Amino acid sequence: MGGSEGFLIGKALILLLLVPGILGWGKEGHYAICKIAEKYLTEDSLAAVKQLLPESAEGDLAVVCPWADEVRFHYHWSSALHYVDTPDFKCNYKYCRDCHDTYGHKDRCVTGAIYNYTMQLASSYEDIKSESKYNLTEALMFLSHFVGDVHQPLHVGFTGDLGGNTIVVRWYRRKTNLHHVWDTMIIDSALKTFYDSDLAIMIQAIQKNITYGWSNDKPSWEHCVRNDTVCPDLYASESVSLACKFAYRNATPGSTLQDDYFLSRLPIVEKRLAQAGVRLAATLNRIFATQAKIAEA
Ligand SMILES: *[C@@H]1O[C@H](CO)[C@@H](O)[C@H](O)[C@H]1NC(C)=O
Ligand SMILES: *[C@@H]1O[C@H](CO)[C@@H](O)[C@H](O)[C@H]1NC(C)=O
Ligand SMILES: *[C@@H]1O[C@H](CO)[C@@H](O)[C@H](O)[C@H]1NC(C)=O
Ligand SMILES: *[C@@H]1O[C@H](CO)[C@@H](O)[C@H](O)[C@H]1NC(C)=O
Ligand SMILES: [Zn+2]
Repeated sequence: MGGSEGFLIGKALILLLLVPGILGWGKEGHYAICKIAEKYLTEDSLAAVKQLLPESAEGDLAVVCPWADEVRFHYHWSSALHYVDTPDFKCNYKYCRDCHDTYGHKDRCVTGAIYNYTMQLASSYEDIKSESKYNLTEALMFLSHFVGDVHQPLHVGFTGDLGGNTIVVRWYRRKTNLHHVWDTMIIDSALKTFYDSDLAIMIQAIQKNITYGWSNDKPSWEHCVRNDTVCPDLYASESVSLACKFAYRNATPGSTLQDDYFLSRLPIVEKRLAQAGVRLAATLNRIFATQAKIAEA
């Protein structure tokens, strides 16, 4: 290995250690959320999505939902957009107070990014004849990813522990941190224990719950007050509340998390994946319904 290559890898490692909470749900989580969303897209919305997807996606939104994590080093400016940190032990979230990056730049957080990319997609249709000044393919991929991230409870965690990143715990025998447990480990263990290591089976189980168990809740998940196109502040408030009630509870530094924690938290994770998928679809449907109306006019 050449010296400069070693230097670059070293630099990447240091960034990985310094930049808080940049990983979202793991690949599986983001894929699952967008697979769930696809089911609830209207015909207009699905057509618009397919038109924006890169060719490599072959018409499948779920394939590009982990993309924002893959480009987080290359697009270094985007790393603060995956999360929002709240004051320690407050258990609530406020846009004005909390939505900024570590340098204090306003709007640079996951909820700010969701407003940003929703606006880019929605406004491009008010101006349908002119070329958009935004890359709408990227806007769609970022929006689909960040609606997922904001539903991960520890993506709206405390500033002091970087959303659980500095809380070292054991997941069964394995040493890891609390943030990673919620991004990846709970889902991985669920796949192995309950779903024959097959993500498609897990997704089906969640979809079945949306159709039966949660059918009465689904309209309220989809709804935003004041007819807003998207309402990430609500999703973030729910997340920090779940972080306090379930993620941080009984997970102090040095603790070993196993069956008790896993089995009581898995239903929370599965419900958040469901809500994220349903809400992403509802948001895209609202964005692209506006488009249809304007096109008719
Ligand atoms: C909004 O999107 C543009 C284009 O990707 C990006 O340069 C900018 O940093 C984003 N801002 C926020 C707050 O998401
Ligand atoms: C838009 O973004 C995608 C993904 O990064 C890229 O492949 C494509 O070339 C971009 N389009 C333009 C017109 O820059
Ligand atoms: C389905 O819903 C029930 C009741 O809320 C819950 O206990 C169960 O864990 C859920 N299963 C999945 C796969 O979401
Ligand atoms: C929501 O939108 C509908 C249809 O555009 C409109 O009739 C209604 O007044 C709006 N409600 C609010 C609270 O803005
Ligand atoms: Zn992310």
